Amino acid sequence: MAGRCPKKKGVIHMPKVVFQIEGGKPVTVDCNVGDNLLELARRSNVAIDAPCSGNGSCGKCRIKLTGGELESLPTRHITDEEYKEGWRLACASRVIADCTIFVPDIASAYQSRMKTADLSSPKEVAIFDECQENLKHSGIHFKNSYCAQVLTMAEPSLEDTMPDNERLTWAIEEAMGVEHVRIPFPVMVKLAYTLRENNFTVCVKGKKEGDTFECMEICAPDNTALVGCAIDIGTTTVTMVLMDLTSGKLLAKGSSGNGQIRYGADVINRIIEQGKPGGKKKLQDAILKETLVPILANLCKTASINARDILRLCVG
Ligand code: FES
Repeated sequence: MAGRCPKKKGVIHMPKVVFQIEGGKPVTVDCNVGDNLLELARRSNVAIDAPCSGNGSCGKCRIKLTGGELESLPTRHITDEEYKEGWRLACASRVIADCTIFVPDIASAYQSRMKTADLSSPKEVAIFDECQENLKHSGIHFKNSYCAQVLTMAEPSLEDTMPDNERLTWAIEEAMGVEHVRIPFPVMVKLAYTLRENNFTVCVKGKKEGDTFECMEICAPDNTALVGCAIDIGTTTVTMVLMDLTSGKLLAKGSSGNGQIRYGADVINRIIEQGKPGGKKKLQDAILKETLVPILANLCKTASINARDILRLCVG
C-alpha cells in the first residue's frame, strides 16, 4: 500500500528509509507505507539480528529511530526511557513516513565473526595433528585416489592432426597405465587453450580408480597442488579447512558466523522463513554468497592456492 502525499492531493508518496549502519555505509531505500521494518531491512540486505525471525519474543532486533517517524507496537523489551531515546524493535515497527534508523553493530555481528586460524601457531597445528593421529589409531587411513600427473605431448602438425581430447587421452593412458579416461565438460572447454598456452606440457589432476582416470582439472605443469576442502555448517558458526590431499597437511582453517542467523537463530524459524515468498533464495544467498564464498576466498588466499585446485569438497 503506498501513502498519499499530505501536501499534494492524489500524489503517491513513497517513504524513504535511511539505515545508518554502525561502522558501515548508510543504505537508503524507498518503500510503501505500512512496510514492516525488519522485512524492509532484509530486502535491502541490511543485517539485523533476528533470532526469533520477527515474532517479537527475543528482543534482539533493536534499532534506534534517529529521525522521522515509525509506528511501533509497545513491547516488554523496550523500557519507557529507551522508547523516549528512540529504541524500537524492528520486527514490531511499521514505516509510516520518511525516517532514519540507526542499526547497532551488534546487528551485523555475525558478518564480522570471520577469522582465519594462525597456522604458524604450534598450538593450533598440534591440535590438528593430534586429531589426525587419533583417527589413524582408530583404523581410519588417509588414503585417497586423487593424483596429479605432468604430461608432455607432441604438438599438432600437418602430419599429426589428432584432436586435442584424443591426444590427451593417449598421453594419460600411456603415463598412468589406465585403459579408460574420462574428460568432463568443464575440462573440455579449457583443453585447447591450456594445451597451447603451456606448449603441450600440462598437469592433469583427477581421480584414478582401477583402470579409469577421471580428469578433473588441466593446468600449467608447475601447479600440482591437490587440495580437499571440508566444511561444517552449524546453525550459528561455519568452519572450513583446506587440506593437502597428498600429504594430509592442514593448509588453512577459518570460521565465520552463519549469515542465515538474521532469518532466525534456530532451524525452525529458518524453515518458516524459507516458506515465505522468496524465502528460499534469501536463505541460499545468506549461506552461499555471504558466508561460504567469503570464507573460501579468504582461505584460498591464506594457502596461496586457486579455488580450482580444490578437487574434493565435503560438507557436513
Ligand atoms: S523480537 Fe524482533 S526478531 Fe525477535
